[in-house]
Amino acid sequence: MRRAAIIGWGDYTPPAVLSNMDLASVIDTSDEWIQTRSGIKERRISHVSNADMATAAAKQALAAADLSGDEMDLIIVATCSPDRAVPSVAAYVQRQLGGVGATMDLNAACSGFVYALSVANGMIAAGTVNRALIIGAERLSSFIDLQDRTTAVLFGDGAGAVVVEATEGPEGVLSSNLHSDGSLSEILTIRGAGTEGVFDPDVPHTVDMEGREVFRNAVTRMGEGAVVALENAGLDVEDIDVLISHQANIRIIDATARRLSIDPDTVYTNIHAYGNTSAASIPIALSEALDQGAIKPGDVVAMVAFGGGLTWGAAILRWGDRVTRHHRIEHDLPGTDKTGLELLAARVRGLDLA
Ligand SMILES: CC(C)(COP(=O)(O)OP(=O)(O)OC[C@H]1O[C@@H](n2cnc3c(N)ncnc32)[C@H](O)[C@@H]1OP(=O)(O)O)[C@@H](O)C(=O)NCCC(=O)NCCS
Repeated sequence: MRRAAIIGWGDYTPPAVLSNMDLASVIDTSDEWIQTRSGIKERRISHVSNADMATAAAKQALAAADLSGDEMDLIIVATCSPDRAVPSVAAYVQRQLGGVGATMDLNAACSGFVYALSVANGMIAAGTVNRALIIGAERLSSFIDLQDRTTAVLFGDGAGAVVVEATEGPEGVLSSNLHSDGSLSEILTIRGAGTEGVFDPDVPHTVDMEGREVFRNAVTRMGEGAVVALENAGLDVEDIDVLISHQANIRIIDATARRLSIDPDTVYTNIHAYGNTSAASIPIALSEALDQGAIKPGDVVAMVAFGGGLTWGAAILRWGDRVTRHHRIEHDLPGTDKTGLELLAARVRGLDLA
């Protein structure tokens, strides 16, 4: 059966670090609270646009696959923090990479990468495209509300990317399932970043979240999604070699793993270093897991995600023979001499570091 296999991967995590201690210097929180309740130690704040981060991750993924941008039939950027409403981040990525394949952004919030992978797999299975670049890229620091300590400590910026190619072999996406419960749309929202904010500048463009409700739904729904995806792939929980969950909260990841009765050693996490990077979190984790040798040829990799909407989804993949990059390239973006806190201060009204 024709399906999509991942043949290249890459990531871009901005150099400017925002530690828990940095946050504790400007809001009423502590390193101990943040680590205990979320598992986060630090996150990154971007000094470049979403499109630049997305392109940097994409260039690595293309080099890893030994392909170029103009060989892509499709570019999807999963994001809920695009630089502009029009055109898409994906169009700007294509502007930097070349090519005339289809481009689109996909907003399923933090589930975006699993959604985009599933869409690309469907288009490959249908024969519409042969190769696609799938990117998760987010600049959620733009939406941080430092008056709300329950959300301000959770999010960070970054991008991850994969190149997928049609295969008739045993590797690739074995199954996926995508869901959403729109009745829960208000428990996680960024209202003013859309046209609501254009018509009424008083609508805040910051994250508004009922943390406990999101937490409860995340654990239940990600577990359900994984079970259905496994069934559809004809596999059991014991067959999972590596679980890559959306990195939102270490307690959510641990609770989901317990619910699935999955061996904790199979769970890859990097939330301590980047916080919640929304749609970017799974491809960043995947890229790091591969580079650290955590994924072996033929491994069954499960991806599970949830996010605003409330969306959730899961994908089961069998890895191919190659777990190393064809080429490894350094990023060509300019650096920054600003700290994470200085970059955040520049975009958060009322934050005076003096
Ligand atoms: C946000 C979250 C970390 C809060 O953890 P929690 O254990 O549920 O904490 P609660 O909201 O019950 O708050 C407990 C206490 O900590 C306080 N608190 C909240 N944020 C705090 C912070 N950053 N620092 C210190 N104290 C904080 C609260 O005010 C509350 O104090 P009170 O008991 O005196 O009222 C957790 O609910 C969560 O991760 N939810 C899911 C969020 C998520 O994943 N969102 C993204 C989806 S893609």
